[in-house]
Amino acid sequence: MASITSQRLDAILGSWAGRGPAYSELAERLRLLALDGRLPDGTRLPAERDLARTLGLSRTTVAAAYARLRELGCLDSVRGSGSYIALPAPPPVAAPDETGILDLTKAAMPAASIVGECIGRAVESLGPELARSGYEILGLPRLRIAVAEHFTRRGLPTEPDQIMITNGVQHAIALLVRAVVSPGDRAAVEQPTYPHAMDALLAAKARLVPLPVSPEGWDLDAAAAAFRAASPVLAYVMPDFHNPTGASLDTAGRERLARLAGQHRMLLVADETTALLDIARGPRPPLAAFAGSTVTLGGLSKLAWGGLRVGWIRAPRTLVGRLAQARTGLDLGTPVLEQLIGAELLAHEDLLVAERRAWLGEGLAALTTALSTHLPEWTVPVPDGGMAVWADCSPHSSSRLVMASRAHGVALTAGPRFGVDGAFEHRLRLPFTARPDELRAAVEALAQAAGDTSTGPAAAPLVAV
Ligand SMILES: Cc1ncc(COP(=O)(O)O)c(C=O)c1O
Repeated sequence: MASITSQRLDAILGSWAGRGPAYSELAERLRLLALDGRLPDGTRLPAERDLARTLGLSRTTVAAAYARLRELGCLDSVRGSGSYIALPAPPPVAAPDETGILDLTKAAMPAASIVGECIGRAVESLGPELARSGYEILGLPRLRIAVAEHFTRRGLPTEPDQIMITNGVQHAIALLVRAVVSPGDRAAVEQPTYPHAMDALLAAKARLVPLPVSPEGWDLDAAAAAFRAASPVLAYVMPDFHNPTGASLDTAGRERLARLAGQHRMLLVADETTALLDIARGPRPPLAAFAGSTVTLGGLSKLAWGGLRVGWIRAPRTLVGRLAQARTGLDLGTPVLEQLIGAELLAHEDLLVAERRAWLGEGLAALTTALSTHLPEWTVPVPDGGMAVWADCSPHSSSRLVMASRAHGVALTAGPRFGVDGAFEHRLRLPFTARPDELRAAVEALAQAAGDTSTGPAAAPLVAV
């Protein structure tokens, strides 16, 4: 089982002190870290004495915090062996609409209007596939051709044998990491970044190298310095409508990043999950158009529907072969019907883009208007696309807001979940993927939650990134 040192725990705890008793504030913060995955199930916590020394607390306070966590069902203590994070059992099965919670932990939209129709057409075209084995580790030729055409249309000539179909983009990330990352390798990720990409890299025992990005864009000088100092094997980036900041790399930035990747012989991985979610920016060429060896990940989860679980990898041919080998230990292919649906959907890409633009544009307007009415002291950068705003919620603590807003019926993800080592305690990712009326209600709930939370003593400065 993994253990965490008291120094590292101190770093990811961030500024946890609040108006309540120290033991209960500490327990609450540890609970949040367990619930959002930053302290994985089974992690061994430091000994009470050790953590007390690092945090400058009395041992009694840490012992009381651990006792509170045990009471909450988040900690197992084994005499003589230590204390281990224990995830509470999942809640009873209920339809999402019956939980009374608006789930904004996921930036995701309902299915696009043509999904049902495309499913119908895919079912009609299933016949010939039924006469085959159904095992296609690289994907159905029909969908690989459609994905290659998708890239070619966007200015990146692509052959179908450069494409592998996956079960969504997260699967693609995990597969790629499995194929190219060895324990101890350094991997550069944006800071902040997509948390489940970090999860995949950390599971492969990669050491993360942060590359600063903010709603204003990338600090490529800092990225160049990080590449020089750390020689990462890969850099995982989201060049279009970066999740969570909403920033996009401009053409000069793409060129420079591509050059840096070449100089440092580093694999550039472009996650294009959000690339077509344009509201007001206009299209930009894929990063791979600037660096031929770039691996591009994409899929239909945001453009069409997350329930399909269809994604893809575009990579140099030699890597596609390696990915197929790496895949057999995990699964043996993507469901055929879903791939046929994917091919139908890609034939209507323009329509999907237009529909998402309209949906997201309305959501963004509703969210930003509600925020300026109910939480005018927050700084809310307005992105020109993507799925979320990366709000500066100072002076509130993002972690405390997340715990409090649950009680008001809104589930959110705290800023530090997107950072390497506990940064972003004053940032909150607010998706605008829900319906406008839901977003307005969510902001009202959030304003109530902000009223409930204490700003605590001297809030920690925003980590400079
Ligand atoms: C940047 C990014 N990558 C990957 C994913 C996962 O995508 P999928 O649902 O296709 O696995 C998401 C989902 O939100 C995302 O935002």
